[in-house]
Amino acid sequence: MTEAKLEAWLDETRVFAPSPEFAKQANAQPSIYTDAAADPVSWWRKQADRLVWHKQPTNTLEWEIPFAKWFSDGTLNASVNCVDRHVAAGKGDKVAYYWVGDAESDSRTITYQELQDMVCQAANALTELGVKKGDRVAVYMPMIPEAVVAMLAIVRLGAIHSVVFAGFSADALSSRILDSDCTFVVTADGAFRRGAASALKPAVDEALESCPNVKAVLVVKRTAGDVHWTDGRDHWWHETVDRQSTSHVPEFFPSEHTMFIMYTSGTTAKPKGIYHTTGGYLTQVATTQDYIFDLKPDTDILWTAADIGWITGHSYIVYGSLINGITQVMYEGLPDSGGKDRWWKIIEQYKVSILYTAPTTIRTLMKWGKEFPAGHDLSSLRLLGTVGEPINPEAWMWYRENIGGSRCPIVDTWWQTETGAIMITPLPGITATKPGAAMRPFPGIGVDVVDNNGDSVGNGEGGYLVITHPWPSMTRGIYGDPERYRETYWSRFPGKYFAGDGAKRDEDGDLWLLGRIDDVMNISGHRLSTTEVEHALVGHPAVAEAAVVGASDDTTGQAIVAFVTLRMSAGDEEKDQAAMIEELRQHVAKVISPIAKPRQIILTPDLPKTRSGKIMRRLLRDVAENRQLGDVTTLTDPTVVNMIADLMDTHSSGDE
Ligand code: WTA
Repeated sequence: MTEAKLEAWLDETRVFAPSPEFAKQANAQPSIYTDAAADPVSWWRKQADRLVWHKQPTNTLEWEIPFAKWFSDGTLNASVNCVDRHVAAGKGDKVAYYWVGDAESDSRTITYQELQDMVCQAANALTELGVKKGDRVAVYMPMIPEAVVAMLAIVRLGAIHSVVFAGFSADALSSRILDSDCTFVVTADGAFRRGAASALKPAVDEALESCPNVKAVLVVKRTAGDVHWTDGRDHWWHETVDRQSTSHVPEFFPSEHTMFIMYTSGTTAKPKGIYHTTGGYLTQVATTQDYIFDLKPDTDILWTAADIGWITGHSYIVYGSLINGITQVMYEGLPDSGGKDRWWKIIEQYKVSILYTAPTTIRTLMKWGKEFPAGHDLSSLRLLGTVGEPINPEAWMWYRENIGGSRCPIVDTWWQTETGAIMITPLPGITATKPGAAMRPFPGIGVDVVDNNGDSVGNGEGGYLVITHPWPSMTRGIYGDPERYRETYWSRFPGKYFAGDGAKRDEDGDLWLLGRIDDVMNISGHRLSTTEVEHALVGHPAVAEAAVVGASDDTTGQAIVAFVTLRMSAGDEEKDQAAMIEELRQHVAKVISPIAKPRQIILTPDLPKTRSGKIMRRLLRDVAENRQLGDVTTLTDPTVVNMIADLMDTHSSGDE
C-alpha cells in the first residue's frame, strides 16, 4: 500500500461502537484483556482446559528463545478433541458440516457421529497402508469432506500431514513432498470448478516420478474421469476406506508432538515447511475462534470461506471449529459457480450466521454489484470476519453495509501461517472498530511496532510489526532447518519475532497493518515470494535474468510484475514478443501454480542494479506502480530505469 493511500484511509477514519445488545451476550467481556494481561501464561493454561487431555499438563511454558514448549508433559489426541469428545458427550447427531458442492444439486450433511465413523475408517485404512506415527503424509485434495477426514485420520495416528493447496503444480507438489520426505499421499481423481471437472491425479503421478519414497497413494473418486493407475501404489478410497471398521482406539501423544507441516513462501526461492505441534496449537485456535467469532455452538452456522490448503482452512475450518463443536458450511466451488449470487444463496439456504473470508474476495463480490446480495435474505448473519491481507476501508464498508446489513460487527484478523492462529483483531462486543484496522492484540498476545533499532514507536507512527512474547500456537520452526527459523524470524530484532509486516499505530494506539515489507507478495491473499517467481522465470531456457515485484492491484491486493532480460541468440529479434511473454507466464504456472502467473511481464535489455550488483526492486516497484522514481544515485546506469518505464508502456501484457 502506498503512503498516500494510507493517509487517505486514516483521514476518513470512522468508528463503529459495538451494539449494547451484542455486548451483553458476547463470549468475551471487557475484563478479558486485564485478566490475560495480569498473567498471560496462566491465562493460556486456563484456556488449555478447553481440550480433552489424556494426561493433564503440569508444565505450561518452557521458553528458550526462539524455541517454545507449551503444556509439554500433557498428552492428548487431536482427532479425539475434534470428534470423539462430541460424540461421547451425546452430540453425535449434531451436524458438523453442511458440505456444498460446486454444482447446486450436490450437497452432503455430515454429523459428528458420521465424521467419527469416517475418521476411524480412514485411520484404519491408513494403518493398513503402513502409515505410522511420525510419518509425513501429503494431502492434495479439493474441498471435499474426505480432505478433512484425511487430516483428522492422519493426526489420529500421530502422523504428520502436509496439505498442499490443490492449485499448486506437479513441480510444487513434488518439491514439498521431497522437502519433508512424505511417504504417503492422499488425493482425488479430480475436482469440479464452475461445473467442469478438472483432473488432479495426473499432477500427483507427475510429481511422484521424482519422489521414489512414496509408498502408497489413496485416491478419492470425485469426478469419475479416466485415471492412470499404478498398481501396488495407488488405492481407491472407496475400496480401501469404506470396508474398514468404524471403531479405532486412539493413542495419545505428547503436547509437543508435531501435527502438521504447512509450506509457505518466504523471501527465498524455497518455500518453508512451517510446522505446528499439538497442545498449544489446538488451545489457541479454539480460544481465538470462540472469543473472536463469538461462537454459540447450539445456534451458529459458521462459514469460513477458505481452502483447507491454507492455514485459515486448517485452523478455522478443521481444528478450531471442530474443537468448539459447531456446525459449518464447507463449500467446494468458486464464488460464481452457478451464478454471481451463489454465495448469498448458500448463506440464505443454510442460514449462515458467521462469515469469514478474504478482502480480495470481498472486492470481487463488490465489483459484481450489490444487487446480487440484495436479492437474498442475509438476515441470519450476525458477525463477519476478514483475513489474509489489509482490507481497504471501501471494501470494509461495502461488507458492513451490503452483507452485514450495517448491524454485524466485523473482525479484521491479522495472523500468519507461522502464528498458527489469530493474533491481532477486534473483539466483537468490546472493541469499537475502524474500517481498515485490525485494532488490538488478542488477549494474552504481546505485539509491538518498532523502528529500525527495535525501539517502540509512538502513537501516530509506523514501523515493523513484532511479537514480543511466545504464544501457544506459534510455529515450532521450519521443518528440518532450525537455523533458518532463527535467522528468518528472530535475528532482525533479538528476542522478538519479526513478522515481515509493516504496521502503524494510530493516534489512539490502534493497529493498522500495512502489508509485507520484505520480498513476500500477497496476491489475492496467497503468499508468494518474489524470488520464487524469479527462480521459476530464470529456469526457462530463454531467460537470462528476472526481477519480480508485487505492485498494488485494486482487486487482488498485489499483482506480480516481472522484468525479464532474455538470452539473445541469432534471429531472436524476430521472435514475437507477445508469444514469448505468454510462454513465460505459462511456464511460471507450470513450475509453481496459475496463481503465480505474472500479471505483466516486461522484456527489457537490462535491469537496474546497484554498484554492488544488486537488483533494485524498490525502483522497479515504483515503475510498476507508476510512481515517481526514488533515489537512483547508487545505480550503475540510471538511464536503465527510464528505459524500463518506457517499455512498460509499449510491451506489457496481462490478461487478468
Ligand atoms: C497478511 C494468512 C493485513 C500479512 C492467515 C501476513 C494480513 C500474511 C492480515 C500471512 C490482515 C494476514 N491484515 N494483512 N488482517 N491477515 N495478512 O501465512 O502480510 O497465508 O504476514 O496467513 O498475510 O499470510 P499467511
